[in-house]
Amino acid sequence: MVGTSEPEAGHDRCASHGADVRHGTAPGRVNLIGDHTDYNQGLALPMAIGLGVSVAYEPSGLGVIEVTSDAYPGVTAVVPVDVDAVGVAALAPAWARLVAAVVSLARPESGGTLHVRSTLPRGSGLSSSAALAVALAGTFGVEGDPLVLARLCQAAEHRIGVPVGLLDPLVCAGARAGHALLIDFATLMMRQVPVPEGAEFTVIDSGQRRDLRDSAYAARVLECEAAAAVVGPLGLATGTDIAGLRDPVLRRRARHVRSECLRVRRFADALGSGDLGTAGLVMDESHRSLSADFESTTPEVDALVAAVRSRPGVHGVRMTGAGFGGCVVALGEPGSLVTGAFTTPAWNVVASDGALARREAA
Ligand code: GLA
Repeated sequence: MVGTSEPEAGHDRCASHGADVRHGTAPGRVNLIGDHTDYNQGLALPMAIGLGVSVAYEPSGLGVIEVTSDAYPGVTAVVPVDVDAVGVAALAPAWARLVAAVVSLARPESGGTLHVRSTLPRGSGLSSSAALAVALAGTFGVEGDPLVLARLCQAAEHRIGVPVGLLDPLVCAGARAGHALLIDFATLMMRQVPVPEGAEFTVIDSGQRRDLRDSAYAARVLECEAAAAVVGPLGLATGTDIAGLRDPVLRRRARHVRSECLRVRRFADALGSGDLGTAGLVMDESHRSLSADFESTTPEVDALVAAVRSRPGVHGVRMTGAGFGGCVVALGEPGSLVTGAFTTPAWNVVASDGALARREAA
């Protein structure tokens, strides 16, 4: 099982400098079901996982933040504390633009040094970006409920050109250990759904990487907007509305969103009542819809889903997150999937606390 190994959020005294070092942490997430529904006022059911991002920020009183990351050894990015949207877009190296975007919105009171560590694979659909943004926002003193944090983090991603919804930062901030988070993006109501004993979730990386800026994610957002211009928000549209869409591509995209929202409810009910067989079958349906109607899978991901599904004790498997590569998530009997048996990284994941619950506990 993946545990939570990141330091707890909070402040401490840095032994070497005697200065105030602030630590922030946020988990990644796996979306159990409900993909490409968040920006359509639909439903999703993600859970936070033990892999995550941690940051250490030491204020210096100067006007810039010097950013280093375990992922880019030997490189220091310099972010002015008063960076604006134009400065964010022009910042080099590009990996530091999300940090700059959060700085531009959270406005820490001083420059300093910032170090980023992550146990999350990047570009694999486990929300490495949202985890970084949520950890940073908390460290820079952004207060409030998960929605306040999530809106700032979403705005930061938009500032670097990725038109994401609220799914990832909401769960990275607001998750509770032992629970998945049912989110209704039309009302922004959230409900914690207990994950029953005997439900083992395994995440398997396809090894196929994507960057949401280059993937078809933005194209899907535009297609959904085009369909919504005719029938209204797709998460609220009826089957009759969708059948009336003339364009066959838009009709398929809309059909996925509507059917996926219905599946989120069925899955949440099945999970809640411990009917893991039904929950697994609903995950299989979700994958087929993402493959055939939404076209956000790849041949490699489809092949991985089929291979994992054929293992004894596996109830269901689907792609998770944006797709176009990245990870798949399987629901199985405990011990049915041995992570070391895959040629790519895999993790048995447990539902973990989000950033706010970790802060409360610290
Ligand atoms: C990415 C985005 C989310 C959501 C998922 C697909 O993770 O960041 O907002 O749209 O893709 O469900």
